[in-house]
Amino acid sequence: MTDLIAVPARKPARPQFSSGPCAKPPGYSPEKLATESLGRSHRAKIGKTRLAYCIDLMREVLQLPDTHRIGIVPGSDTGAFEMAMWTMLGQRAVTTVAWESFGEGWVTDAAKQLKLDPTVIRADYGQLPDLTQIDFSNDVLFTWNGTTSGVRVPNADFIPADREGLTFADSTSAVFAYDIDWSKIDVATFSWQKVLGGEGGHGVLILGPRAVERLETYTPAWPLPKVFRLVSKGKLAEGVFKGETINTPSMLAVEDAIFALEWSKSLGGLEGLKARSDANAAALGKIVAERDWLGHLAVDEATRSKTSVCLTVEGADADFIKKFAALLEKQDAAYDVAGYRDAPAGLRIWCGATVDTQDIEDLGPWLDWAYATVKAG
Ligand SMILES: Cc1ncc(COP(=O)(O)O)c(C=O)c1O
Repeated sequence: MTDLIAVPARKPARPQFSSGPCAKPPGYSPEKLATESLGRSHRAKIGKTRLAYCIDLMREVLQLPDTHRIGIVPGSDTGAFEMAMWTMLGQRAVTTVAWESFGEGWVTDAAKQLKLDPTVIRADYGQLPDLTQIDFSNDVLFTWNGTTSGVRVPNADFIPADREGLTFADSTSAVFAYDIDWSKIDVATFSWQKVLGGEGGHGVLILGPRAVERLETYTPAWPLPKVFRLVSKGKLAEGVFKGETINTPSMLAVEDAIFALEWSKSLGGLEGLKARSDANAAALGKIVAERDWLGHLAVDEATRSKTSVCLTVEGADADFIKKFAALLEKQDAAYDVAGYRDAPAGLRIWCGATVDTQDIEDLGPWLDWAYATVKAG
């Protein structure tokens, strides 16, 4: 029998370690949000100004070049990615690259909904597929950071500058945490609920010039619902990229995102966000290295996520992890640390910028405690 160990004295100050919606920025409180735009038309001057400001802040913090448009769309990251798939795919062959649950979701939609018969390049949880196998004369769908396996692409070097197809990067748990070579990305999507610690509900769609060209020159064979329509009379609906949303947005979610983006700027923008995420991942890496019963699901360190860090727990099955996570939640020591339901049983600890490194450090003894307690039965 494993010896029980004492309940650690010190708790993480903010036990929010969920991989989405993620912890709010430090110092956040709803009272700090600007509310002048609420209860008004989103097309009134104040609403449009705040939407445009949010877009400008995202561009600035992401260091997005002028070549790329950025707009707010319905349906969180899923809505943004589906919008891109349904409006642009079908002109040429499609390759989907999947190594965890969300990438697999895009495979399903390309194959079963759009019936595109995609080439699928896969790897198991913990691994990155062989990216040299990708034929870039195809449109290529991939997930920059696989949130459910903690495996990411190390950079965009695998994407040729002279590709014929378009690249579609589901980047929801990657933006604001890694450098992204935007010249290699034709379409990217994300939701505020991840690294910014914002709200779900809205997605963000980034389009490079070749994606815009595709939209203006190609009409898919299938019907498009209004919430997906980015083209009007053969031209890109430019208003969407200035804050004239397709339908009514939540201005409260927009104000919440503005709070997170202004906080990001106060840290020095992207560099500041990346530094926090790097420090968190390093602190968690140290905890893992010091314990022989904990391991990283991502086999190769170069592909290991710095946001959604997925861990193996020796001898643990789904039931063990459920009890482990429930114990930590009951103590208010750590919330939502069980791995994703489709992933191998293990832990997933968010290390994005809104988490404080001290809280990751304080988590270590709690992991020991929960492990010993569940083992002791
Ligand atoms: C890689 C990835 N894609 C898509 C989604 C779905 O995001 P949303 O619920 O914001 O639509 C998630 C959410 O966790 C994700 O991690």
